[in-house]
Amino acid sequence: MENLIDIRDLSVDEIQELVRVALDIAADPSRYSEKCRGKKLATLFFEPSTRTRLSFEAAMYELGGNVLGFSEAQSSSASKGESVSDTARMVSCYADIIAMRHPKEGAPLVAASKASVPVINAGDGGHNHPTQTLTDLLTIWREKGRLSDLTIGLCGDLKFGRTVHSLVAAMSRYPGIRFILISPEELRVPGYIRKDVMTANGIPFEETTDFVSAMPQLDVLYMTRVQKERFFNEADYIRLKDMFILTPEKLAYAKEDLCIMHPLPRVNEIATAVDDDPRAAYFRQALNGKYIRMALIMKLLGVK
Ligand code: CP
Repeated sequence: MENLIDIRDLSVDEIQELVRVALDIAADPSRYSEKCRGKKLATLFFEPSTRTRLSFEAAMYELGGNVLGFSEAQSSSASKGESVSDTARMVSCYADIIAMRHPKEGAPLVAASKASVPVINAGDGGHNHPTQTLTDLLTIWREKGRLSDLTIGLCGDLKFGRTVHSLVAAMSRYPGIRFILISPEELRVPGYIRKDVMTANGIPFEETTDFVSAMPQLDVLYMTRVQKERFFNEADYIRLKDMFILTPEKLAYAKEDLCIMHPLPRVNEIATAVDDDPRAAYFRQALNGKYIRMALIMKLLGVK
C-alpha cells in the first residue's frame, strides 16, 4: 500500500498488524524514538483540526522525524489559486510523506495521483476519515478486547459525520457486528452506505430516534457532533444540534461495560458530567490516535 485514502485500502490483516504495532509503541515508546530519524512529514490542512494534525505531528516527532506544513488554506498558495495536484507535486519535493485534510471530497485521492510520496487522507469533506477509524479500531480493541461480536450504536450526525462512514466500512468486515443508527431523520446515514456497505455485506442494522431504548443493547456507543460547517441553513443546524445529548441519566440504562467513544471535538452532545465515568473512553481514544498514526507512518515509509 502506498497511500491511505479509504480505510478499505487496508486489509483486515494489515489493520491487525497496525494495531499490534500501536500496542507495542504504547507499551514502550522509547523503542521507536529513532525509527524515522531524517524523515519529514508534511501536514497540509486546508480545514481546521486539533487532534488529527497535532497527533500526526506528535507521532512524527516521537519517531525522531520532523514536520512541516500549514494549518489553514489561507496561509498556503491555495489562496492564490494553486491546485491540489500542483501542491501535492511540490510538497513531494520537500517531504517524505503527506497527511492532507481538505473540505472537498476526493481531494486527497487527487493529491495521491500526483504526489511521488505516500499521501494519507486526514479527512475529506463529509466523505472519509480513515486515520480516525484506525484510532477507533485501536480503541475498541483496547477497551473491549475484540473487534467482532459487538452491537455498535452510532449517534448524532450520521449524514455528514465522515468518521461514521469510515467506521461502518471498517467494522462491516468483522463477524458478529450489528449497528443501531440513532439520528434525526434529516441526518441519517447516506443511502449508499446503507445499501453498498451494510446491506451488501449482510450486516444487521436498525435506524431509530429512540436513544434510551437503544442504550441497553449497546457494547459501544459512538457519539458524534452535528457538523455545523456542512449545513447550508443555520436554522436547520440549530433545530437539530441538541437532539441527542448523552447524560448520566441516560447512561443509567447502559451496560456496565459499555465503551463510550467520540472522535471529538465535542460540542454539546456528551454532558461533561459523563467524563469521569470509567466507560467514557473518548480522551483515551484521542491518545490512541497518536500511537496508531506512528504505526501508520512507519508502515507507509517502509520502516520496520
Ligand atoms: N477527530 C478529529 O478529526 O478531530 P480534529 O478535527 O480536531 O482533527
